[in-house]
Amino acid sequence: MCGIFGYVGNRSNAAGLAVNGLKSLEYRGYDSWGVAWKEGSALGLRKETGKISGINPESLPACSLAIGHTRWATHGGVTAANAHPHLNEDRTIAVVHNGIIENYQELREELKAKGHVFLSETDTEVIPHLIEEYLKETDDFAHAVRLACQRFTGRYGILAVHTTSDTIVAARTGSPLIVGKAPDGFFIASDTPAFLEHTRTVQYLDDGEMVITNGKSIIFSDLKTGEEKLKREIEITWSIDEARKGDYAHFMLKEIMDQKESVARAVNQNEEEIIEVARAIENARGTFLVGCGTAHKACMAGEHFFSIVAGKHVNVAPASEFKLYHRFLRPESLLIAVSQSGETADVLEAIQVAKSKGAKVLAIVNSPGSSIARAADYTLLINAGPERAVASTKALTGQLAVLMLVAYALAGKLAEGKKLLLETASMINDMLNPRYADYLSRVADHIKAKEDLYIIGRSWNYPMALESAIKIQEVSYIHAEGFAGGELKHGPIALIEDGMPCIVLAGNDEVLPDILSNAVQLKARGGYVIGVAPERNEIFDEWIRVPDAGAAQPIVNIIPIQVLAYFLAVQRGKDPDMPRNLAKSVTVK
Ligand code: M6R
Repeated sequence: MCGIFGYVGNRSNAAGLAVNGLKSLEYRGYDSWGVAWKEGSALGLRKETGKISGINPESLPACSLAIGHTRWATHGGVTAANAHPHLNEDRTIAVVHNGIIENYQELREELKAKGHVFLSETDTEVIPHLIEEYLKETDDFAHAVRLACQRFTGRYGILAVHTTSDTIVAARTGSPLIVGKAPDGFFIASDTPAFLEHTRTVQYLDDGEMVITNGKSIIFSDLKTGEEKLKREIEITWSIDEARKGDYAHFMLKEIMDQKESVARAVNQNEEEIIEVARAIENARGTFLVGCGTAHKACMAGEHFFSIVAGKHVNVAPASEFKLYHRFLRPESLLIAVSQSGETADVLEAIQVAKSKGAKVLAIVNSPGSSIARAADYTLLINAGPERAVASTKALTGQLAVLMLVAYALAGKLAEGKKLLLETASMINDMLNPRYADYLSRVADHIKAKEDLYIIGRSWNYPMALESAIKIQEVSYIHAEGFAGGELKHGPIALIEDGMPCIVLAGNDEVLPDILSNAVQLKARGGYVIGVAPERNEIFDEWIRVPDAGAAQPIVNIIPIQVLAYFLAVQRGKDPDMPRNLAKSVTVK
């Protein structure tokens, strides 16, 4: 949540670079934005509510140092005053911040008692004021930032600048910060797409670290002790084009279409690593799969892959609930943490809980170098390429593919799993053609005026029913709910009214007769039954054809729903890439 960006170097368009960088980070929050830049011995500032998309980067003054922020509101409403950067009273210090300063009320009272005046409702505003206080004790700006950081509890990634120095000071505890090293300066941002067009050479800050750069050199140090640290430089392999929308109207549509290739990329794993991971699961006394939102639904489907393909029992929990599982953890346990961004706070907390009990961690992530990847003992990358739309699409199918592959490896049938998944990838390629999209657009048109929609599935299609509901809710704002088919008659069926769209996810599997009889129950109550299945059935009012993909059925069944959700959003006049109230990367608990 919240995107932060900084640049210092030889270029004279630092503020413009900040605007462009923030545009690439808007998926992290988009209710307001702001940029501060060094203008001679003063700080220039521009802050506005709304999206940054409209601003021309060239409209900002020439400068060689700037920091910026795109906000997802936590403390205080969406106002220009609450937007970052935040400054001290004499406007000599500017700070952008991602995360939450939990003890901000106490610090605010302390600072108020010393005469500081606050202009916003944010937790962040205490930071420049506290730094100002420490500048009374030291004339070293970086040291003052260090002392201030030692007072904070909570999670933060911050960038701070001061009128008397041409440096950016950054500190990280819990919220991601990545340095980009270019020939003509240094970038520091919450995520790599912010500077990918300028450099692919990156250095990741770890928790409890600080960075000081004047654009020519950079010093990494321990946030507490100040002891200098050496950092490895890593080359990012993601291409700039992958991070762009190209000719597509929206990132969501582009990323759905990317699945023509991304599922095959997910399958392209180092076999030895997959076998090593399978062995770790085999030997573990208790395997737990955790994730949030869509990634959690991938974990739920993973439970079925492990059970059906490998006869192996695993436990699944939303990452936000996992800390309650600490009683079941021991050094022989294995946590499988699934995440697109690799930065989700709830997942990081689950990892901490597991590690505190000595358990091992496997990360299945999309973002290489992310906090979750770096915290894990084993990492499998899903290789989906950058996912920018808030609604997760290609990351989900990548997660499903990797989980399936691991299940097949566990069953000693890795080659079979690989073959099935590559066939599935080719089926997806055939499926995502313009005629299919036109058809789904017509289905969307037919149901777009409805305010309620239900989706049912059984076995591995049950988590896909839950995922379908998330997809439709978050981008179209239709009230969509997913249920296990068999649960309908225990309550939800009371909601079904004449003409209500009911999506039924089916496959040619052991639960087909059961899910079809649930479809009959829906139809008998007036439901408009939209079947997503390899074969037509007379019970379907609408049939969305999907290939018969065996164990990969959940992967092919969710794809038309992603397309349907996209069209529902667009036809209802909503922006599918930036749904209200949401952010792509949820770095708060
Ligand atoms: O980056 P992560 O995979 O950890 O994110 C988890 C969820 O926040 C994410 O899947 C969210 O539910 C998506 N917006 C759903 O489309």
